[in-house]
Amino acid sequence: MPPFSFLLRSLSLSLRLSLSFPAVSLDGALVLAVAPLCSCDVCASYLSSSWSSEFPNLCDWYTHLLRSSPTGTIHVHVLRNTITANPVNVEHIVRARFDNYPKGKPFNAILGDLLGRGIFNADGESWRFQRKMASLELGSVSVRAYAFDIVRGEIETRLVPLLASRMGCGNVDLQDVFRRFSFDSICKFSFGLDPGCLQLSLPVSSFALAFDLASRLSAERAAHVSHGVWKAKRLLNVGSERRLRDAIKLVNALAEEVIRQRRRLGSFATRNDLLSRFMGTVDDDVYLRDIVISFLLAGRDTVASALTGFFWLLSRNPEVERLIRGESDLVMGSSAGDVLASFEQMQHMHYLHAAVHESMRLFPPVQFDSKFASADDMLPDGTAVGGGTRVTYHPYAMGRMQRIWGPDCLEFRPERWLQDGVFRPESLYKFPVFQAGPRACLGKEMAVVEMKSVALALVRRFDVRVVGTDQQARFSPGLTATMSGGLPVIVQERDSIYQK
Ligand code: HEM
Repeated sequence: MPPFSFLLRSLSLSLRLSLSFPAVSLDGALVLAVAPLCSCDVCASYLSSSWSSEFPNLCDWYTHLLRSSPTGTIHVHVLRNTITANPVNVEHIVRARFDNYPKGKPFNAILGDLLGRGIFNADGESWRFQRKMASLELGSVSVRAYAFDIVRGEIETRLVPLLASRMGCGNVDLQDVFRRFSFDSICKFSFGLDPGCLQLSLPVSSFALAFDLASRLSAERAAHVSHGVWKAKRLLNVGSERRLRDAIKLVNALAEEVIRQRRRLGSFATRNDLLSRFMGTVDDDVYLRDIVISFLLAGRDTVASALTGFFWLLSRNPEVERLIRGESDLVMGSSAGDVLASFEQMQHMHYLHAAVHESMRLFPPVQFDSKFASADDMLPDGTAVGGGTRVTYHPYAMGRMQRIWGPDCLEFRPERWLQDGVFRPESLYKFPVFQAGPRACLGKEMAVVEMKSVALALVRRFDVRVVGTDQQARFSPGLTATMSGGLPVIVQERDSIYQK
């Protein structure tokens, strides 16, 4: 077996020279994928990272390239990746030719250690089974009511008291607060377990830390041009792969303990958390663990990311905040102490609904989403796709395309979603923030209700101002959009800014 340092040296040399990697065998397994030879401008810029001298984020560079492409589609040859911001192509990939665009083996490999056979990482029969079971549960009135109660409880007893306690105390990292909020909420919803991350003392939860580390390190696997690098590190159990293994062990141990306890108590028939609901159908506890962990990943960072983008935009657009307050006063009355809207009341707030969609148009939590073509295909815009290559649609770029949203596409304007004051949904292929077609997000309604509940509570109770709104947003690499450096805000009593 070649020594690990040799592997790394030959990889970085191959990268610099932009040559094909030699196929190297480790323990008899072919571990290095062959990166195609290419020295076109896009590939050269990708490999040397020279794009970063002009653009703050990789997604901004891709947006620029996609805008310049007449079809709204580009190739990054060294990644064997076709990237599109063309709604007709999106519909083709996620609906019309759904069977040709599974998540695919490379994605399964990247997230397989963390997610096992869970829905987020499954294709074929296993996916179909979980999808059916999960749709049934998430569609049930009692599960929805359970989710809504969790969110209201978390806002009333933790989020609002925490922010009230930080008034006049300098900067608060709102992104961190939202991550704690959404982790508590999704753990209660999925496991019936309260990690208590948002308690006043902001405790360090070893479960949350391990889960964060595991998802971040899993995502970093995808950033390698060749899977061979992380696979070799995993085989040797060194560096980031060793830390990933330890983090996953901890997450699994906790999940397994909760499952064991629940089986022992035998009380699952009367409970509404997903784990208890799924226990009635699934006997295999490892499979059960995988299913529930996928929900943690799906529902945690996404909601926190969406809320972070929302408050970033709101801080730059105080008029939108004023209109949200005005609408909520009409529906709920004008006492700033009443922060919790009922489900019914929220149905009447079209402007709020529009503002939440508008913020995700500009800051989609899942900035891009990839599939792997099973067989050769032709996209509707004439782009040829080779079997076994990656195809990515890019909601972040799509939200910034004039040809989709018009000349004011970069403006935060909730009104674009309203017709005579009533919310008018857009085509899901223009706005694939929750994906669309057979594999569309199962938590969409829940996520939107969660976002609106938090937005209302904070806007009605506080003045939240982001520190440094003149700067461009910068994201950390990961599965979900995360602002690097967090979202520092100053929290004040409502209207105190205007009273000065
Ligand atoms: C703003 C918040 C959210 C956004 C933007 C979002 C977005 C997405 C996207 C883009 C996908 C497709 C991923 C893929 O298959 O490639 C997805 C799938 C999924 N989401 Fe969400 N999501 C959000 C919140 C949630 C929440 C709160 C839950 C759970 C309670 C959830 C549960 C799921 C599940 C189970 C899937 C997998 C569906 C399948 O593979 O059939 N999501 N979501």
